[in-house]
Amino acid sequence: MVEFSSLIDPVYIATVVIFIIGLQRMSHPSTARSGIVWAGAAMLIATIVTFLTPGLSSFALMAIAIVIGGGLGYIAAKRVSMTDMPQMVAIYNGMGGGAAAGIAAVHLLGTTTAVTSVLAVVGGLIGAVSFSGSIIAFMKLQGWMRPRPITFTGQQFVNMAVLALAVACGVLLLGHPAWVPAAFQFYLPAFFLLSLGFGLLMALPIGGADMPVVISLFNALTGIAVGLDGFSFPTPNYAMVIAGIIVGAAGSLLTLLMARAMNRSIPNILFGAFGATEEETGTGVQGSMKPIEADDAAVMLAYSDTVIIVPGYGMAVAQAQQKVKELADLLESRDVGVKFAIHPVAGRMPGHMNVLLAEAGISYDRLYDRDEINQEFPDTDLVLVIGANDVVNPAAHRQGSPLYGMPVLDVEQAKNVIVLKRGAGKGFAGIENDLFYRDNTRMLYGDAKETIGLLIQALKKL
Ligand code: TAP
Repeated sequence: MVEFSSLIDPVYIATVVIFIIGLQRMSHPSTARSGIVWAGAAMLIATIVTFLTPGLSSFALMAIAIVIGGGLGYIAAKRVSMTDMPQMVAIYNGMGGGAAAGIAAVHLLGTTTAVTSVLAVVGGLIGAVSFSGSIIAFMKLQGWMRPRPITFTGQQFVNMAVLALAVACGVLLLGHPAWVPAAFQFYLPAFFLLSLGFGLLMALPIGGADMPVVISLFNALTGIAVGLDGFSFPTPNYAMVIAGIIVGAAGSLLTLLMARAMNRSIPNILFGAFGATEEETGTGVQGSMKPIEADDAAVMLAYSDTVIIVPGYGMAVAQAQQKVKELADLLESRDVGVKFAIHPVAGRMPGHMNVLLAEAGISYDRLYDRDEINQEFPDTDLVLVIGANDVVNPAAHRQGSPLYGMPVLDVEQAKNVIVLKRGAGKGFAGIENDLFYRDNTRMLYGDAKETIGLLIQALKKL
């Protein structure tokens, strides 16, 4: 007769294959939705098969935890708006880190070998840091804390001291295994408290604008913690090991790609307290913003041969993507060539614009990334900037600006630029944008969705 437990490892391997297929599908917007379903199915199968583990007990507690966690996750995911997605990712990731730290604590309390204890200590440290750091990231993005960097004198020294103490407690834990209760009872809580403290301290000096990168970094750390935990079982849990490695690798790559798109190094993001100063001094901004009415903007659009649309975070806030598609289609029906320029960090998460535009049915062959389109701006009649700010800020070319070196879309080189935004609000980096003051720029104020509606109406009358 087949032992059910002998099915666990083969099923785990199968779920890992499904998981990888899911990830691969997530790499393109057209298949991304189904990729999520594949990965979710893999998670579900792996969870179910884990119940076949011999000697498992406390089924009722596990069922209660699954119902509460799954229920809350379901409701939160159903309700969350697209613009709040980064903080949702942050909190879910934090829960993953917390779970990894909890598993490590259980391992350390149980009978472990020297190797598995070391893995549990490292996994516990990383998981706890990821947990508390992600909570701070969530609170900053949710507006429950000031998003600006929180800094104090000697901060990096304090951070390093806390980390060193956490590591020291971890090492002492290894020397005082669970059967030496007195010492163990002190070092275990101290180790986790210090690790959690380091996670908090690590996230406090990071500004809201850098948070998505940091969330991705914490995500990578959670993956590594889970992978290490997977090894620290008496018999390795291959699903945890492989899934942890994949998440760790994918998270690390994404972190590096985002940092590169912002022309920042990871140490600069972690320790640079970007955005700590209230205002950039000496921005070099001159002139005034010149407003335009929708009717006049529609005439400019209608009589252009080439239009490039640059969407940004404001398009997501306004949920204007359907209107944008309507506008683009209308212009094309009038023989205006329309292209979309997509900056890799426009919006608040990787692929944010691609997802929204795909949702509206805009085909991918109309989307161009920065390297493909930047040289086309000088020959473009009109650039329509829809709720983008930092990604079109020419300050990125000016030495001394906090944005200096960030690869931006050089829209100011176009013949005309019309910017859709509600008022004088700054971008996420909080830096003044002199594009708005240029002679060839006009400001069309209002919520992007409403304004595009007005443009469509005006165009139809022409
Ligand atoms: P932002 O620089 O954040 O600017 C968005 C602009 O949209 C604001 O200036 C705001 O001005 C306007 N806006 C807001 N709501 C609007 C509405 N309902 N209708 C019209 N306009 C509206 O956006 P961006 O250019 O997309 O840049 C993204 C920023 O996030 C960059 O700093 C980037 O580095 C950072 N970031 C992104 C990522 C990823 S992965 N995407 C990761 C890390 C950091 P008003 O208030 O005046 O309307």
